[in-house]
Amino acid sequence: MIETDFIPDTLNLDKDHGIVQYTSPSNIALIKYWGKLENQIPANPSISFTLNACSTTTKIEYVKLGKKASDFSFDLYFEGLPKEEFKPKITTFFKRIITYMPFLLEYRLSIHTSNTFPHSSGIASSASGMSALALCLMEMERSFTKNMTDDYFDRKASFLSRLGSGSACRSINGPLVQWGKSNFIESSSDLYGIPFPYDVHPIFNNFHDTILLVDKGEKQVSSTVGHDLMHGHPFAANRFKQADDNLGKIIGVLESGNIKEFINIVESEALTLHAMMMTSNPYFILMKPNTLSIINAIWEFRETSKTHVCFTLDAGANVHVLYPENEKDKVFSFIKEKLVPFCQNGQYICDQIGQGAKKK
Ligand code: PMV
Repeated sequence: MIETDFIPDTLNLDKDHGIVQYTSPSNIALIKYWGKLENQIPANPSISFTLNACSTTTKIEYVKLGKKASDFSFDLYFEGLPKEEFKPKITTFFKRIITYMPFLLEYRLSIHTSNTFPHSSGIASSASGMSALALCLMEMERSFTKNMTDDYFDRKASFLSRLGSGSACRSINGPLVQWGKSNFIESSSDLYGIPFPYDVHPIFNNFHDTILLVDKGEKQVSSTVGHDLMHGHPFAANRFKQADDNLGKIIGVLESGNIKEFINIVESEALTLHAMMMTSNPYFILMKPNTLSIINAIWEFRETSKTHVCFTLDAGANVHVLYPENEKDKVFSFIKEKLVPFCQNGQYICDQIGQGAKKK
């Protein structure tokens, strides 16, 4: 599909009010997206586990305006309270998607949103937040059209989410979503995420992700700035190729259940992401001393316990600890005893691989 396929032909805007609501999860990338072209087109393909516990619920109440407005008309409530600070980001998003959602100027929206994870926990809410919003808008569009297929609904929801925040396009479905054109997956696209189309070994069923909150402060460098620093980065071309090669490798690993190779790819991807940050100009470091202490403790425990626990990182200091269901008791005891002391105020979130967004 191409961009113009997402411009609706005919919409019936007779409906003068309604309510739509979605819960959408966060996701954690195994192969990382870092670097983009114009219009949120990724510089390399990525793949992620969809999460379950970390999610955003968004409700939109919409009322038809007397006549088409020249600007967007909406109120925003975060966890029950008006949140003016979030409005510019939403306005930017609406501007980016107006060609695909022309009805946005015909309705006044009241947007109510809340997260399951604690505010300012250092967990990025852009993936769950932008996808929940995009899904609500798609639900509005569905009510203005006849016979929209579920495939089109999901694809366009992912397409719109991408325009809000790149990685958000991987939150619509589960349990594994791939985004970005690659010769390894014929149906892959730069425009939207697709459910991973190949077989997945049962070792990855109910895979766990315990998120250790190492540093809950504001990031010194936003991901927008970080992506930009990949332009002219001395290692960019090799990195983009490596991500694609790793996608090719992980396809076989997900199918065969070769967990040792899985660990190797996932940890290398996490460290490479941070290596790109450390070798950009200006350079920056998002890991904290406790991030490194946790990584070292995981390596030591993996060696001595013969379990298959590993880590990955987002663009921040927090550590995602990944492990299979059949090792959960052993690994979780280790996490509580040895890793939680490195968390800020002892805080962590128990999450697991999930199935994607849900209509409420
Ligand atoms: O979606 P963005 O623009 O915030 O970028 C997120 C990038 C990483 O989380 C670091 C990696 C990824 O693929 O999710």
